[in-house]
Amino acid sequence: MSYYLDHAATTPLDPEVLNAMMPYLTDLYANPSSLHDQGIFIRKKINETRESVAKAFHVSTSGVVFTSGGTEATNLALLGYAKAHPEKKHILTTTIEHHATTHTVEALEHLGYDIDFIPVDQEGFIVVDQFKKLIRHDTLLVSIIWGNNEIGTIQDVKVLGQIAHEHGAVFHVDAVQMAGQTIIDLSQLPIDMMTISAHKFYGPKGIGALILNQGITIQPILYGGQHEKGLRSGTENVSGIIGLAKALELARSRVNSYCKELLSIHDAYRKLLKKVIPEIEFNGPKDSTKRLSSILSLSLPNVSSTELQYALNRKGIYVSTGSACLSNEIKGSHVLEAIKRDSSYATLRLSFGTKSELKDIPQICQTIKEIYEDLRDY
Ligand SMILES: Cc1ncc(COP(=O)(O)O)c(C=O)c1O
Repeated sequence: MSYYLDHAATTPLDPEVLNAMMPYLTDLYANPSSLHDQGIFIRKKINETRESVAKAFHVSTSGVVFTSGGTEATNLALLGYAKAHPEKKHILTTTIEHHATTHTVEALEHLGYDIDFIPVDQEGFIVVDQFKKLIRHDTLLVSIIWGNNEIGTIQDVKVLGQIAHEHGAVFHVDAVQMAGQTIIDLSQLPIDMMTISAHKFYGPKGIGALILNQGITIQPILYGGQHEKGLRSGTENVSGIIGLAKALELARSRVNSYCKELLSIHDAYRKLLKKVIPEIEFNGPKDSTKRLSSILSLSLPNVSSTELQYALNRKGIYVSTGSACLSNEIKGSHVLEAIKRDSSYATLRLSFGTKSELKDIPQICQTIKEIYEDLRDY
């Protein structure tokens, strides 16, 4: 018996998504750039699919650029916008970004850009006064993680985007953990560029998109056959594109019931864990409306997080110590450091989704308690 509590790392492919993809992995294999009937059929399908994704986010079809995932979409947003607008050289981001952003701004720093990191408070919220102090007349862009992948904090993108715009900067959000858990209407939000990734909402791995709002221009970072209107060359991942759109459609149709279910699972874990391990502390927002219900970050004193994770793994309970990308690094999490989490505590991330069930919670919490008691140093 195993329990998958790592949905923030990736989600299982929805069978309906697989069904939608299947013809494009088998019979409909033609290259959409080919000028014969089979190729033209696939090209038409991609165009229709792009339209459906554009409609979902209320942008024009030219505002949907399919990429190999969230990492590439963020690279394209930041590097591609900087390339297209060389006049300003200051970039603002936060101290709690995913590495897709932190390492991209690091690369921009090597190219001569000035980078500042907006601090967050202990719940992971951007300190707005600090943001206002750091933003400058030459700030080119502001890049912010909407829903944090380690502690679940949801930023107020309406307020933050407005501040960016008031200062003439464009606003990019990493919506990788948000998409699938909320309906996003970019005609109503001050978001200029948005990163999404299908494998976080029951779509396939290796496909994502950069969504561009009206009037935003970027330059490519990959060169070749001028696919995606020249913004992302490379033969299209046809089945991936179909899968992303299907997963998005399903996520949108189920969003209310899915979020309700996640909230009840999250609350049940929180309550029971606190009851069985009184010394436990939770990271991220206290207000349940300002955090992702899919993520529960918890900290425990006098124990090592890797030992805890390994022991849980042996019992078939699959969790992360921080974000999945961090798990083979020795270095601690920059997000936990940014929220000033006491580093003598061990932190685990439990993340919920369709593989989580209310009925498993008592057993899992009891196992976490027993393992913790067994491993901790008094
Ligand atoms: C917040 C966030 N941004 C970006 C990414 C990168 O997405 P991908 O795995 O599609 O490259 C992830 C994946 O873990 C993420 O959680």
